Amino acid sequence: KNKEYQPLYDVLNDAIEFSSYELLSIDGKPYYEYLTKRGIHEDIMKKFSIGFNPKENRLYEFLKAKKHKDEDMVSANVVRISQQGMQDVFFNRITIPIHDGFGNPVGFTARVIDDSSDAKYINTAETPIYIKGNLLFNYHRAKDSAKKQGKIYVVEGAMDVIAFAKAEIDNVVATLGTACTGEQIKLLKSLNSTVCIFYDGDRAGQDATYKVGKLAVERGLSVEIVKNDHNLDPDEIIEAHGKEELREVSKKTISWIDFLFDFLMKKFNLNNYSEKKEYAKIIGEEISRLSDQFEKDSYYNQLRQVSGFDLSQGQSDAQIPDRQSQ
Ligand code: GTP
Ligand code: MN
Ligand code: MN
Ligand code: MN
Ligand code: MN
Repeated sequence: KNKEYQPLYDVLNDAIEFSSYELLSIDGKPYYEYLTKRGIHEDIMKKFSIGFNPKENRLYEFLKAKKHKDEDMVSANVVRISQQGMQDVFFNRITIPIHDGFGNPVGFTARVIDDSSDAKYINTAETPIYIKGNLLFNYHRAKDSAKKQGKIYVVEGAMDVIAFAKAEIDNVVATLGTACTGEQIKLLKSLNSTVCIFYDGDRAGQDATYKVGKLAVERGLSVEIVKNDHNLDPDEIIEAHGKEELREVSKKTISWIDFLFDFLMKKFNLNNYSEKKEYAKIIGEEISRLSDQFEKDSYYNQLRQVSGFDLSQGQSDAQIPDRQSQ
């Protein structure tokens, strides 16, 4: 931990304390009720230090009274300088703190409770201690449990992590969106665990599953995909079907290669020769990475049945005929 940044951690810790307190105040009532409606009760509010900041820069006034320097508040992106003076960055939103791998608070993700803003969520802007691509939401709470269980779930949103917490599953992190960087893959790799991607069932979520899975596999991680037939995200699964269903769905993982067979089937038209060839090439390359010879053989066999191409002898592109007269 870098001593130089201690004032920023201090600002954030006090901001979290203030917001948690305000959530329980009269002003916070609609926000508290919003959370309650989403099945988030006080135990979970506490666990994740969920909060709320009222308007009128009350957080700024609080931090000033606590003798924090303006420059530290600005540097932590809790307050910004505007033409009207200092202004809270997050207000009229529920706030969920984001921590680094050591558990130091580094920022917030903050949600509106209605359609009052185009931005459903806003997050802390990049600061010396908040570099989005280097962090995974909930990593500090998930790491021990992940190492113990040999498995780490990766979900899109903080609310999905919270859904898992309701189902008493701790080994889960969120990328806070569908982008995942090499640095985040490194964090996952250090857990020595199988990465189970559990992104939203919608198109954006499935496309991102492919991207993240590919990156992780290329960096040598073992990857599985949660088979989500609900077209919902983990939080919506709990909402619609209950905790037990989320636990069940989480257990239904398919291999990376099986995901590819399915996912790419929807992306390529296998009635078109060159698209079929592309399909086979991509899957063949992924199969070639496998270390288990039995798995390799059986997947090459499956690929041959689906595409007509037998890539088991490590055929290069040149050896795949350009046109086929089947
Ligand atoms: P809920 O609606 O609260 O359940 O959130 P969600 O996690 O289901 O959101 P969604 O699936 O729409 O988006 C996935 C993640 O992308 C969110 O958790 C956020 O981290 C991020 N995200 C979504 N909308 C916005 C936005 O308007 N701005 C920013 N910066 N991030 C967003
Ligand atoms: Mn989504
Ligand atoms: Mn369903
Ligand atoms: Mn979602
Ligand atoms: Mn959701």
